[in-house]
Amino acid sequence: MRATVESITLVSMTDAPMPEPRPFSPGLEGVIAGETALGYVDGERGRLLYRGYRIGDLVEHGTYHAVAHLLWTGEWDPDHRLATGPIPAPVMGVLRALPSTTKPMDALRTAVSAWGATQDLTWPPTVEHARAITSFSPSALAAFARLRAGLEPIEPDPSLDLVEGFLYQLNGVKPDPETARALDAYFIVGAEHGFNASTFTARVVISTRSDIASAVVAAIGTMKGPLHGGAPSEVVDQLARVGSTDHAEAWVREALDNGERLMGFGHRVYRAYDPRATALRKVAEGMTNRPDWLQLAIDVEDVALRVLAEKHPDRPLKTNVEFYAAPVLMGVGLTPDLFPATFSLSRHAGWTAHVLEQSADNRLIRPDVNYVGSAERDLPA
Ligand code: ACO
Repeated sequence: MRATVESITLVSMTDAPMPEPRPFSPGLEGVIAGETALGYVDGERGRLLYRGYRIGDLVEHGTYHAVAHLLWTGEWDPDHRLATGPIPAPVMGVLRALPSTTKPMDALRTAVSAWGATQDLTWPPTVEHARAITSFSPSALAAFARLRAGLEPIEPDPSLDLVEGFLYQLNGVKPDPETARALDAYFIVGAEHGFNASTFTARVVISTRSDIASAVVAAIGTMKGPLHGGAPSEVVDQLARVGSTDHAEAWVREALDNGERLMGFGHRVYRAYDPRATALRKVAEGMTNRPDWLQLAIDVEDVALRVLAEKHPDRPLKTNVEFYAAPVLMGVGLTPDLFPATFSLSRHAGWTAHVLEQSADNRLIRPDVNYVGSAERDLPA
């Protein structure tokens, strides 16, 4: 018999038992939420592989554009090229309308959202979509940075690679090869990192058969938080507060006693030294334009590692990528407020590769939750 409103009996269920909570892991720590062939993060041994290749080797011998291509297609082609892309007129209009006080992450998120509105991003997402969004975003961030400084945006130069092109569109002059190489190294180490919060977000979004721009917008919003992408600019602030090597020990102890977190230390997955920090420290030390506080950073790191080990004997807290990202980004001439958005530019390769991987074998991501609220009850009369 077909149910009608009249035939459904409304019964009180107040006696029905509530389910017992099942075990769960706060923050999903240690939970396996999928499979990927893209990045392998070995937290115990401090190893990071992109499609099997060691991060140190990729930094030494690769380029960001070759790494992005590797992540998208699985093919290693060192000659692969990728330039920055054009900004559609309606998106430029949106960037021009933003107040100059807009935070760069908000500007980037808004620009990607507006870009998505100008594209025909049909399901399933393609490598071409991934290339297009990855090459658009550096142009958008550079244009925003110029507009807020009262300068006109610069057109992409297709003869330049993506990272060179970003610096050119930001500063109005072509970068010297050493500077471009240092930022390219940063982009490589930032490109991919397993199921971190922003990548997981991107996969959740695309799993609904939404589009790649929506996935990247959500990922940028996730990366905006200081526990994920905001650390390098805070590293600079903290080092300024330390002031000198003589004060390092007292400062670190006082900060920890006050419950502060040392920016650039600790990681959800790494218990060993972050291999990305190793690679970026090498880059920072090799830069001609390295900031004069690089030595202070190295001294503070020594003290911080010692004091963190003393205070947290059971939880190894080591240097993470953000600590040495700070001197590299400062050294190439970026202001600290551009650091999180620049990190987001680098992660476009990984986010979009995960979007492709998720959509190729899609299942809607929809976990369960323990209900811990009030038992079933009647509304107050
Ligand atoms: N400074 C001081 N203490 C720390 C730090 C730190 N940087 N990181 C963790 N701890 C302590 C916590 O206070 C906690 O101590 P307790 O058990 O006595 O309360 C213990 O270590 C475990 O910390 P959790 O918060 O459980 O570790 P979680 O895995 O959630 O955090 C995170 C990882 C967010 C990166 C954390 O280490 C942190 O806040 N670091 C500083 C910010 C930072 O550098 N972020 C960049 C991360 S890299 C990236 O996103 C690309």
